[in-house]
Amino acid sequence: MLKRLAKCIREYKLPSIIAPITIMLEVAMEVIIPILMAELIDNGIQGNGGAGDMPYVLKIGIILIVCCVLSMLFGIISGRCAAKASTGFAKNVRHDMYYNIQNFSFKSIDKFSTSSLVTRLTTDVSNLQNTYQMLIRIAFRSPAIFVFSLVMAFKVNASLSLVFLCIIPILALGLLYIMGNAHPIFRRVFKTYDKLNNVVQENLRGIRVVKSYVRADYEIEKFEDVSGDIYKKFSRAEKLVAINAPLMQSCMYGSMLLVAWFGSKLIVSSTMTQGELLSMITYSMQILSSLMMLSMNIVMISISRASAERIYEVLAEETDLTNPENPVFVVEDGSIQFEKVCFSYGKKGAGLCLDNIDLKINSGETVGIIGGTGSAKSTLISMIPRLYDVQSGSVKVGGKDVREYDITALRNEVAIVLQKNELFSGTIKENLRWGNENATDEEIIHACKLAQADGFITSFPKGYDTYIEQGGSNVSGGQKQRLCIARALLKNPKILILDDSTSAVDTATDASIRKAFAEEIPGTTKLIIAQRISSVQFADKIIVLDNGKINAVGTHEELLAGNEIYREVYLSQQKGGNEK
Ligand SMILES: Nc1ncnc2c1ncn2[C@@H]1O[C@H](COP(=O)(O)OP(=O)(O)O)[C@@H](O)[C@H]1O
Ligand SMILES: [Mg+2]
Repeated sequence: MLKRLAKCIREYKLPSIIAPITIMLEVAMEVIIPILMAELIDNGIQGNGGAGDMPYVLKIGIILIVCCVLSMLFGIISGRCAAKASTGFAKNVRHDMYYNIQNFSFKSIDKFSTSSLVTRLTTDVSNLQNTYQMLIRIAFRSPAIFVFSLVMAFKVNASLSLVFLCIIPILALGLLYIMGNAHPIFRRVFKTYDKLNNVVQENLRGIRVVKSYVRADYEIEKFEDVSGDIYKKFSRAEKLVAINAPLMQSCMYGSMLLVAWFGSKLIVSSTMTQGELLSMITYSMQILSSLMMLSMNIVMISISRASAERIYEVLAEETDLTNPENPVFVVEDGSIQFEKVCFSYGKKGAGLCLDNIDLKINSGETVGIIGGTGSAKSTLISMIPRLYDVQSGSVKVGGKDVREYDITALRNEVAIVLQKNELFSGTIKENLRWGNENATDEEIIHACKLAQADGFITSFPKGYDTYIEQGGSNVSGGQKQRLCIARALLKNPKILILDDSTSAVDTATDASIRKAFAEEIPGTTKLIIAQRISSVQFADKIIVLDNGKINAVGTHEELLAGNEIYREVYLSQQKGGNEK
């Protein structure tokens, strides 16, 4: 994990190295200062038989000032470098995560929820960034100060320094306890963050539904629940971390007392000078404050370990849909063949979603697919552009297994209008160019005419430059569907799949779309999933799906005569139609 994360440092290696080096130099200066102070007092002020040696005082004084300035300078440089390195590191981590997310297969997308990905990209990366900044600065600084000061303290007075050696084990035990317990708690805290994000995101996306069902109170309650959950978990974690401060403080003041106590005795018995006691006290302050910093660092590391793991999960997620060794780039034609295809969303054996599907569709055919909700219609067609890989069997497009194709080449030839279609913020034209970046205005208008979208687009005051709000909230459901069809048509695909894409379009417009397809793109294989029999009635063949199995294949007349399910659906829709 650390190796993968370290890879994200990249161009920020130099500041990442300069920061700890300058920190060390700063520490060196800070350690020299107490020595000089002792010099100043013992040999300067009290020198010359107690009368004071002014030139010596001046000399040491100037050196002291230089050391102070240098120490400050090094401090500033290391601060800047650390800031640059850590923000750059965070940028790279975010970049790598985002890139990998773009490569996610549909399966990986199912695995991570959107809200969790958002928390990971924001909160977790910030945690990591702070820790990194601390790591390359304070994490070097405190041990360095600690070691330097301890060595110097021993030099000044070894027996007095033994006080520190007694304190350290007590501290270490306390820190180990905090570290061991904080990590799992923080992991749970972050999981709850995911949940909070999920609640907020879902609420905001569906705010219209929430309002129309007057569910605001319920939603608020849901929010309060998660938010309270975070509060509880966080306060537990913070309580644990808070043990750190009193532990440190008591160790700190305890050892100060001891040093002062024994020190004063030593002075009285004239085995130690006043200057030495002064620097001893300065060292003990430095030792203890460095320990305090260190312990805070350790706590912070155990917090961000949880974040680092979550980030790593995203970075390490490998897409299971990979391009083959020598991919085929050309899709010959729009024929489709399913051979004994089995598929399930869950783990192997956990109930098949597609059960032994055999199917043959010729290039240029129009095929209707009918079946109740949950009968795996959407699943069936998602095999064709290889959104998921089959569990067993094979799907062939243009005579070759879809796994032999370059994925981009395959998906360029198989245009699919998903059931949950999406438009993005931007103008209509920009949205349509998703289908084909280089489409000319004429091509765009032509595709929209085929999809029966030209009419309503030109009726907008701004026409094709009308701005689509996030999620397409300013066009009607039927208009959105037609825009999505036009977007797919612009790909000029060999296979066009419409997954319930005209459900919100009125029957007359639906018929016009079908007519336009038959006349204008006869060579394209068209798969149409529909709820309305009238949408598929004229197809070359109609597939009836039931519970992941093919129940029957045939033309409208054949099915009406010989298939129970089809006849039932037909009759129920006829009845509804007559009653209107
Ligand atoms: N991403 C998914 N993860 C897990 N199960 C899914 C997923 N998508 C669909 N399913 C399940 O697969 C079955 C078939 O779904 P689907 O193909 O969407 O049916 P249809 O399009 O005919 O309504 C359903 O039982 C559904 O719960
Ligand atoms: Mg569906």
